[in-house]
Amino acid sequence: MHFISSLLLLGPAFALSVAVCPGQAKYGFIPPKPTDSRGPCPALNALSNHGYLPRNGQNLTIRSVLQASTDVYNIDPAVLIGVAKLGLLTSNEPDSFTLEDLKLHGTIEFDASLSRADFATGDNFHFNETIFSTLANANPGVDYYNVTSAGQVQFERLADSERTNPNITNTDKEIGFRSFTSALYLAVFGNVTTGVAPKNFVQIWFSEERLPFAEGWQRPACALDGASVTALTGAVQAASNWKTSGGCPYVRTGPSAAPTLDSQAICKQLESVSSLTGN
Ligand code: HEM
Ligand SMILES: *[C@@H]1O[C@H](CO)[C@@H](O)[C@H](O)[C@H]1NC(C)=O
Ligand SMILES: *[C@@H]1O[C@H](CO)[C@@H](O)[C@H](O)[C@H]1NC(C)=O
Ligand SMILES: *[C@@H]1O[C@H](CO)[C@@H](O)[C@H](O)[C@H]1NC(C)=O
Ligand SMILES: *[C@@H]1O[C@H](CO)[C@@H](O)[C@H](O)[C@H]1NC(C)=O
Ligand SMILES: *[C@@H]1O[C@H](CO)[C@@H](O)[C@H](O)[C@H]1NC(C)=O
Repeated sequence: MHFISSLLLLGPAFALSVAVCPGQAKYGFIPPKPTDSRGPCPALNALSNHGYLPRNGQNLTIRSVLQASTDVYNIDPAVLIGVAKLGLLTSNEPDSFTLEDLKLHGTIEFDASLSRADFATGDNFHFNETIFSTLANANPGVDYYNVTSAGQVQFERLADSERTNPNITNTDKEIGFRSFTSALYLAVFGNVTTGVAPKNFVQIWFSEERLPFAEGWQRPACALDGASVTALTGAVQAASNWKTSGGCPYVRTGPSAAPTLDSQAICKQLESVSSLTGN
């Protein structure tokens, strides 16, 4: 009796403490308003949908995206600082960017994505269920994704872009980024060492841009560091049987059309040397 009344007394207090847990209260999921900025990165969109980044998706800084990625996904800032700095290049502002800015093709945004169409043939920043169906349907018969399925998904997404996008860009730069993003969904929602991740967490996150706390997902217990993420990235790339579509890697350094940081001169030189020597 005493035990039961203690439980009853504990009830409301327990409910209160649950209410401030991640994923609820302040950090509850609220879908974006039409005026809110969202972009091609499901991870950052979800952080804005939960209020870990500004809900309007604006005024993002390198520091704020690194901090929120540590707080929520437990990713070591060293893993993301490069991509975060590239993110700033997509903006006209001196020290901030919006989620939509990140769609600038060729800075980070690439072809043959997991859940977005290619820049030349469609909408490269909104979630697209048809594109995502390759990943959604991967690894049939079991309830998890792994390195094998992630590699197959990349292979199939690339084959689709090769068929449908005459302007595809697919160099060493793109395969590096593509494998990195696959490694991130496996590591954050599963296990960075084994590369095994429950399907439902991954699917909810991509399709709803919601953190699957209610389904039982928890922040990774150990920080996802450079060594472990790099190893998983390499394993996914190896499983993807990747072949380049040719061309030289480049980085677009700003929103206006012209500026690029490219290796084309060097790359063209190497191509002409190898065509002369037959290598
Ligand atoms: C910290 C700063 C970050 C920036 C600037 C950034 C930027 C981007 C951009 C521009 C894309 C589009 C690439 C494409 O064309 O598909 C992207 C995709 C992606 N990002 Fe992020 N991201 C960041 C952090 C993260 C984090 C923390 C995660 C994982 C928790 C993540 C996971 C992904 C995934 C899985 C995709 C692939 C989406 C797809 O292929 O459809 N990103 N990100
Ligand atoms: C960004 O932050 C600055 C300074 O805090 C503020 O003046 C500006 O209105 C903000 N811009 C947006 C788009 O929220
Ligand atoms: C591909 O690029 C070329 C040259 O930049 C352009 O003329 C053409 O319209 C593009 N095709 C598509 C499908 O975007
Ligand atoms: C999604 O992508 C497919 C394949 O590229 C395309 O046919 C379809 O129009 C896209 N859907 C939306 C809503 O953009
Ligand atoms: C991934 O899962 C599939 C289906 O269970 C299995 O056949 C495959 O061997 C697994 N790959 C790895 C690397 O464990
Ligand atoms: C990942 O899997 C390894 C090997 O099964 C295990 O030792 C480790 O505890 C797991 N890590 C997490 C975060 O679940």
